[in-house]
Amino acid sequence: TPLSQIRNFSIIAHIDHGKSTLADRLIQRTGGLAEREMSAQVLDNMDIEKERGITIKAQTVRLQWKGHVLNLMDTPGHVDFAYEVSRSLAACEGALLVVDAAQGVEAQTLANVYQSIEHDHEILPVINKIDLPAAEPEKVRTEIEDVIGIDASHAVLASAKSGIGIDEILDAIVERIPAPTGDADAPLKAMLVDSWYDPYLGVVILVRVMEGTLKKGQQIKFMQAGTTHLIDRVGCFRPKIEQLTDLGPGEIGFITAQIKDVAQARVGDTLTDAKRPAAEPLEGFKEVQPVVFCGLFPVDANDFEKLRESISKLRLNDASFSFEMETSAALGFGFRCGFLGLLHLEIIQERLTREYDLDLITTAPSVVYKIELTHGGGQIDLHNPADMPDPNRIETIAEPWIEATIYVPDEYLGSILKLCQDRRGIQKNLTYVGGRAQATYELPLNEVVFDFYDRLKSLSKGYASFDYHQIGYREGDLVKMGILVNEEPVDALSMIVHRATAEVRGRGMVERLKELIPRHLFKIPIQAAIGGKVIARETISAMRKDVTAKCYGGDATRKRKLLDKQKKGKAKMREYGSVSIPQEAFIAALRMG
Ligand code: GTP
Repeated sequence: TPLSQIRNFSIIAHIDHGKSTLADRLIQRTGGLAEREMSAQVLDNMDIEKERGITIKAQTVRLQWKGHVLNLMDTPGHVDFAYEVSRSLAACEGALLVVDAAQGVEAQTLANVYQSIEHDHEILPVINKIDLPAAEPEKVRTEIEDVIGIDASHAVLASAKSGIGIDEILDAIVERIPAPTGDADAPLKAMLVDSWYDPYLGVVILVRVMEGTLKKGQQIKFMQAGTTHLIDRVGCFRPKIEQLTDLGPGEIGFITAQIKDVAQARVGDTLTDAKRPAAEPLEGFKEVQPVVFCGLFPVDANDFEKLRESISKLRLNDASFSFEMETSAALGFGFRCGFLGLLHLEIIQERLTREYDLDLITTAPSVVYKIELTHGGGQIDLHNPADMPDPNRIETIAEPWIEATIYVPDEYLGSILKLCQDRRGIQKNLTYVGGRAQATYELPLNEVVFDFYDRLKSLSKGYASFDYHQIGYREGDLVKMGILVNEEPVDALSMIVHRATAEVRGRGMVERLKELIPRHLFKIPIQAAIGGKVIARETISAMRKDVTAKCYGGDATRKRKLLDKQKKGKAKMREYGSVSIPQEAFIAALRMG
């Protein structure tokens, strides 16, 4: 395809503003799929992939529109995957900015738009959901101009759901987004945008060719990884797979090269010709590192092997999470896993539970602390609170900090500022735009990983949005807080906390555990302690009667139900010495009040 007829674009949108629906519409309108194949969202759904042989993880689709080739690059919409987003954006010349006509601009959108602007993108605003009764397209148009500072006079008013404005969007892409540039005869430089494991094709690599040409049968070199591979397939997704002979400059497509492990195909790497390599790799390569760690243990110790297999399978498709075996006195065998963020953790945990049918205990998520040992003992990275060295061996502890941007309607600002304050936040900036405030805070990451996002959402009735990036390590007065149930330490619940907030956190934990742990036939003390010093304590009083006693012997069905429920509950309990702790308690206890 001649460069002048190529357009590469991504879609920027806040969650739920309609990105997937719009993408599906564009595919449908340009003939990628027939109406009957559009019953469910194409770019979003994993099961459809297998059923129809179309690929979904391929976050790019090649569209044909009025003699032009339009490559739609879908991007993950969450802060945890910011680096992937940045590479997808680097593969494009423009972006559709989808804003919900009833919700307006949100912080997540803002962060992505600024990133897009940094990549010199032409941004086409699309005001979506104009069919909604609460839609205020003109207000949103002004907001886009005021808040983001781009011209929105050409914004397309659309309804992805009802199919309004779709042709206008496609025309605008052709007219307004610049064609890519690049020299077909230069040494090959292609960017690795994404990779995933396909059971039939092996590792599939999504690339954007910058210079030169990528051909089937070519020997290529990954400039960052230093490995060479023979390309055995070249193609694109429409969204069905279509094989091609080559990909020229400006083009987006996929290759396979008999690669077994996604870890070898890292996002941001540069592919070049092994025989005629480029002098320099592309800029912007970064090795993504997990930032949040937790232990995953099977509730039933017999499931350990199954957990190992399931985790290994998931890892085949996701090189950004790490795992290694871990043993805990109380929980037995499990894995210490590292994730890009809490959402990433939840996705993996959810897939293990749902797709692999595993009951899991997740230990308190922790960030990585850097500990300087006394007497020149060197520095260690602490991933697990259980491995915290003795306090008198510690010279200093440093924790990772983030800069967060929060965007919230004025009426909720007070409670959000208080939340940031409670989490040791340092305010850097506060501005108001059209009834909304934008607050910038520096916060310790460990105060954010537990439930900050949930709290933010509930305090603002869902209106606040949040985005962050890491800004490095800072020393802090950090201590390990342990939890004792019936005098026994429960490793899974121990965490690193700041001394100033330890008591509040400890009290909150024991209070919630009191609610979460069922009564037993004996009294159970629950304590939070730092070193040997107890900082909070609650007691679960002993159960006085049989659990069915309150049924007054009358209703047999109810009685049976109750017993069934108890039996079922038992399967998901974990024994600690003589105390049973329900599975939910582990996560629930970590949520701060
Ligand atoms: P994530 O996949 O969660 O990032 O969301 P998304 O931005 O891809 O949004 P999605 O396309 O899944 O749409 C979110 C919801 O909005 C769905 O329930 C859609 O049916 C609905 N929706 C999308 N576009 C429109 C529209 O134009 N009008 C109306 N009324 N609803 C829409």
